[in-house]
Amino acid sequence: MAHPTDTTTRNQRAEREKLAQDLHRPHYHYLPPANWLNDPNGLIHWNGQYHMFYQYNPHEPFHANIHWGHAVSADLLHWSDLPIALTPTPGSPDAEGCYSGCAVDHNGVPTLIYSGHNRANPGAFQLPCLATSDDELLSWTKYTHNPIISGPPQNLDVIGFRDHCVWKEGDTWYQIIGSGINGVGGTVLLYRSPDLIHWEYVHPICVGDLTQTEPLWTGSMWECPDLFALGDKHVLVVSVWDKHQTHYAISFIGTYADHLFSPQPPRKLDFGASFYAPQSLRDAAGRRIMFGWLREERDTQAQRAAGWSGVMSLPRILSITADGALGMRPAPELARLRGQHVGARDIDLSAAAHILSGVRGDALEIVVELELGAAGEVELALLRSPNGAERTSLRYSRADGQLILDTSRSSLSETTHRSQHSGPLALAPHQALRLHVFLDRSVVEVFANDCACVTGRVYPTRADSLELGLFALRGSASVKALDIWEMGSIWASST
Ligand code: FRU
Repeated sequence: MAHPTDTTTRNQRAEREKLAQDLHRPHYHYLPPANWLNDPNGLIHWNGQYHMFYQYNPHEPFHANIHWGHAVSADLLHWSDLPIALTPTPGSPDAEGCYSGCAVDHNGVPTLIYSGHNRANPGAFQLPCLATSDDELLSWTKYTHNPIISGPPQNLDVIGFRDHCVWKEGDTWYQIIGSGINGVGGTVLLYRSPDLIHWEYVHPICVGDLTQTEPLWTGSMWECPDLFALGDKHVLVVSVWDKHQTHYAISFIGTYADHLFSPQPPRKLDFGASFYAPQSLRDAAGRRIMFGWLREERDTQAQRAAGWSGVMSLPRILSITADGALGMRPAPELARLRGQHVGARDIDLSAAAHILSGVRGDALEIVVELELGAAGEVELALLRSPNGAERTSLRYSRADGQLILDTSRSSLSETTHRSQHSGPLALAPHQALRLHVFLDRSVVEVFANDCACVTGRVYPTRADSLELGLFALRGSASVKALDIWEMGSIWASST
C-alpha cells in the first residue's frame, strides 16, 4: 500500500527536477523543492534522525502565507523532503502564517512552539502557539486553545513579540521570546511553565541598547532568540531587526545564572549580508550544530523569475575557542561529499595572478593555508571568467585585520546586489591564514581560521565563470597548502 507521504514526495521530486537545470541552484546546501524558504525552525535530533523545519511559502518564491516545511536526514548531509508540517488555519491566531519557533521532546511527545501570525490578533502581535505529533513528527495537531500566551507582558511597551527557544530546568519549562522595548533596544523575554501550556512571565533576561554602535549596533528588536550552554559558558544568539528591516545575526557569549544572562560584547555570526535567523540543536553526540537562512542577494523580480528563493547554510559546529571566542567550523560530515582532489604545496604568490590551471568549478571545497609574508593583502578569486570580467573575490587585509568578501564583480547582471562585506579577523604576527571555502553555485560560504564566517550569494552570468586564482598584493605571500575537491550533490540519489 502506498505510504501517505508518497504522493507528496513524488510532487516534491517533480518540482525539484523542473529547477534542476538552473545554474544558480546549489548542489549540496539544503533548499526546498521550489518557492520560498526563510528561517530554520524546530531543529531536533529525534530517534537518530536530524529534523529540519523551515519557514516556507510552498506556492510562490516570496515571503507570504508562511507554512512550516519539513526535511529529515540521517547523516546531516542528505535530506529527504517530508510533508508540510504546519499550514495556517483560517480564523485562528496563525491564519496569516505559522512563523518561527522550536521543537522539544515533552515526555516523548514531539512538540512545536511557534508564532502564530494574524494581523487580527490583539495588538497585531504574533502569538505563541503549540502543536504536537503522535506519528514520529510526520503530521502535527495544533492545540485547540492556541495561543498559549495571549500577548506580551502588559507593563512593557514592546516592539514585536515572536520566535521561541524552549528548554527544561528540573521540572520547569522555560522559554524566551524575541522582542524589543520601545526606545530602549532589542530584548529577550523569559517565561516559565509547568506543562508547556500555562505560561508565566518572569522578566527580560537580556536587553540591548539601541543607541550603542560599538562594537556593533544591535537595533530596536531581536528576532529568533536561541540560548544554549557551550563549554562552560552560555551563548545567546539573536537576529537584529529595526524598522521592518532585517539586519544580521549576532552572538553574545556570557553567563546564565539566576535566570539572567550577563553578556560580553556581541559579535556578528557571519560578516556577509546573507546569513540570518540561525537556530541550533544539540545532537545525540552532544554537538551544538547551527543552521542559518542564506537569503538571496538579487532583486525580487529575479527571484520570481527563478521560481525559488532562500537556501539553508551548511551545518556549523560551534565551540568556545581557547581564547574564549565563538568557534565555528563546518560539520566534518561534509568531507563525505568530496570527489576529485587537486593539491599543491609551497607556492610563491605575487601580484601576478596565480591562476590555478586544471581546476575549475562551481561546486568545490577549497582549503588554503597562507603565510602572509610581506604582503599587505591576499586574495582568492572564485567563479572567475577567463578575461576576469566576472569574479568573486575573497580577501584578507593584514593592515586592518579584515576578512572581505567582495561580490561587486560577481555578476554582469543588473539584478544582483553588488556588495563588499567585511569583518575583523585578528591574526598573530606569524599566524597562518586558513580559508575554508564552500562554493556551491550561487553560495559562497567561508570559514576563516575556524572562528570567522562570511557568506555571500553570487549569480555569475557566464557559463565559463569557473576559474580560480590566488594573488598577493603589496608584497609577496606563500601558499603552504592548497586542497581543492569537487563536491558531490546531496540530491544524487533522489533528485
Ligand atoms: C526572521 C523572521 C521571524 C519570523 C519569521 C517570519 O526572519 O522575521 O522573526 O518569525 O521570519 O517568516
